[in-house]
Amino acid sequence: MDNVILTGIKPTGQIHLGNYIGAIKPALALAKQPNVKPVYFVADAHGLTKIHDAKEFRQLSYGIAATWLALGLDPNKTIFYRQSDIPEIFELNWILANFTSKGLMNRAHAYKAIVESNNEIGNDPDFGVNMGLFTYPILMTADILMFQSKIVPVGKDQIQHVEIARDIAANFNKTYGETFPLPAYQVQEETAVLPGLDGRKMSKSYHNTIPLFTNPATLQKLINKIKTDSLPPEAEKNPKTSILFTLYKEFASPEEVDAMRRQYKEGIGWGEVKKQLFMVMDRYLQEPRERYSELMASPEKIDAILRKGAEQAREYSVPFLKEIKRKIGFYV
Ligand code: ADP
Ligand code: TRP
Repeated sequence: MDNVILTGIKPTGQIHLGNYIGAIKPALALAKQPNVKPVYFVADAHGLTKIHDAKEFRQLSYGIAATWLALGLDPNKTIFYRQSDIPEIFELNWILANFTSKGLMNRAHAYKAIVESNNEIGNDPDFGVNMGLFTYPILMTADILMFQSKIVPVGKDQIQHVEIARDIAANFNKTYGETFPLPAYQVQEETAVLPGLDGRKMSKSYHNTIPLFTNPATLQKLINKIKTDSLPPEAEKNPKTSILFTLYKEFASPEEVDAMRRQYKEGIGWGEVKKQLFMVMDRYLQEPRERYSELMASPEKIDAILRKGAEQAREYSVPFLKEIKRKIGFYV
């Protein structure tokens, strides 16, 4: 396949503005470029590292799929599937594990962060770490390499994982000859890390998110909770350091953004900025929110789309895995 752009989102919580601005929006824009093959998926196998309640898990998986579709993913142009529907990925995962040093996994940020916090509170360093979580970057590598992806649009926190994928791919190539192109990450520089309500990275894990498809009243309430400084209304404000402006830019028209920039210069109260931000966000999200609810009410539609996507994906993964196995010396 030509210039595969691949990304996935794991179903471990409701999609929030950070996911949207950092990952989904840029991925949808990339999918519209010429000469690319977008391959996007629900990373449910990765979600299993955290969610162990079947009913909740199923709902969350549908939620991720419905979000992509509601925001405009076109399944006729994008291969769109559930990761767990592609068994070849898990076979490749095992193969790649043998080309991954344990030390590389020890250094992975997500694992390191847990070990550090365990050490801080005097727990066993590996408390709460299952092997799915420890080897998470290998499975992500299998996702990426299975489709010979060249570009991986992700948020900043995923850069290390893509670098790990490059390392593993290079290791394999060195042993068996050119097999996998080395993937490159693509991050949306300006909004690489969108802060949450408390100023830390917006993340499901920190409970500081603004869910993308929440109802208008809650959206307004959450926008009002975003932390601002104590500058008086008449003072000039810096758009570059204002999360409200960052968000406004994502949802407003270019003219509106210019006007807002002027207001920052001339002085505007944070309350007023929040009001205008809510207005443009709600306007932008109205239709996708409705499409999202419709899809969530008919999961069989989502299933049909994902099933078709899996068939398309496997047209590629089945023969490619055979080729890989042949190189290794497995009987095929
Ligand atoms: P979370 O941190 O909420 O668990 P995920 O790890 O599931 O989010 O991230 C899914 C995608 O969204 C990834 O590509 C990730 O880099 C991106 N992303 C998550 N949070 C943010 C954020 N605050 N700003 C920018 N991108 C983000
Ligand atoms: N690890 C990614 C996240 O937490 C999700 C993911 C799984 C992914 N496989 C991937 C992203 C492959 C890009 C490419 O957000």
